[in-house]
Amino acid sequence: MKYNQVTLNCGSTIPIMALGTYSSQNDREETKHAVQTALKMGYRHFDTAKIYGSEAAVGEALTESILNQTVEREDIFLTSKLWGSDHHDPVSGLTRTLKRLGMEHVDMYLVHWPVKLKPWATNAVPDEAEFEPVLDLETTWGGMERCLDMGLCRSIGVSNFSTNKIQRLLDFASIPPAVDQVEMHPRWRQTKLREFCGDHNIHISAYSPLGGPGNAWGSTAVVDDPIIQSIALKHKATPAQVALGWGLSKGASIIVKSFNKERMKENMGALDLRLDDHDLLNIEMMEERKIMRGEFLVNQTTSPYKTIQDLWDDEI
Ligand SMILES: NC(=O)c1ccc[n+]([C@@H]2O[C@H](COP(=O)([O-])OP(=O)(O)OC[C@H]3O[C@@H](n4cnc5c(N)ncnc54)[C@H](OP(=O)(O)O)[C@@H]3O)[C@@H](O)[C@H]2O)c1
Repeated sequence: MKYNQVTLNCGSTIPIMALGTYSSQNDREETKHAVQTALKMGYRHFDTAKIYGSEAAVGEALTESILNQTVEREDIFLTSKLWGSDHHDPVSGLTRTLKRLGMEHVDMYLVHWPVKLKPWATNAVPDEAEFEPVLDLETTWGGMERCLDMGLCRSIGVSNFSTNKIQRLLDFASIPPAVDQVEMHPRWRQTKLREFCGDHNIHISAYSPLGGPGNAWGSTAVVDDPIIQSIALKHKATPAQVALGWGLSKGASIIVKSFNKERMKENMGALDLRLDDHDLLNIEMMEERKIMRGEFLVNQTTSPYKTIQDLWDDEI
């Protein structure tokens, strides 16, 4: 099976087109079916997280497909993420994730947000009592490095980290993060972070690469933008393919969610689209506005972040 991939700073390779598995419906059979459909179409990179509730369905779909020889485990790149309530003990957090997945290892384990929660916290939108007031990245990252040493994952990284927070991490880490998974699309281009990560050999994975058009918190602003639409017309492509093609042109891997067979295929088609310099210049002119702003992690009393500017270190 042919698929595109890039090499990370740890030596692993990561396929550049991934299927996201967050869905507000969180229907186990639907998720499982989507993963198996995607596998048949050539997707080899799957993105899940404890907080999505999709680990069991993703694991079941992959395990069945490995057993019936549709795919080999070594050809799959599986990412999951450490939720804030597991920052105290990433090894236990990942062990529970592996149990839900029914897998012996994940290929990438990411610190989902730079937010530490009380170990008993369960809410996806934490209430004030659930925050730890200090991030304590040293402890969390030490645990992530142990996960790697123990063979529970093949690589480690972060998500939703600003350049400032990555620099803080690099100042003490024995093993640097291989990836920063962040929101990135033509209306949130991450120019500063891309330059910083390029300088430090950290790969960027782009989440919500379409702006999350079907999500309650998402927006159709990316796919509806007249610049994106006119580029699509010019290349006989779709607006979604242009948005994904832009992210790919910047060297990012793309984490796009669709559980619809036609749209999965359409999204895969972005790998064949080549945007020209004129297209890229036009996209640079687009107004920027971050969609996933992280307000749910900000409060005046218990969170270390009193404003969203604190959370993103003014990179918003
Ligand atoms: N690290 C983080 O904090 C973080 C945050 C957000 C997301 N993520 C990851 O990134 C993945 C993708 O992000 P996302 O779901 O927020 O945003 P997205 O991939 O930009 O958008 C997904 C939405 O767009 C629709 N869609 C997909 N392909 C389409 C197409 N070709 N044309 C029109 N609509 C299309 C999907 O509906 P259908 O399913 O009906 O096609 C879905 O409603 C998530 O599933 C998750 O794995 C990570």
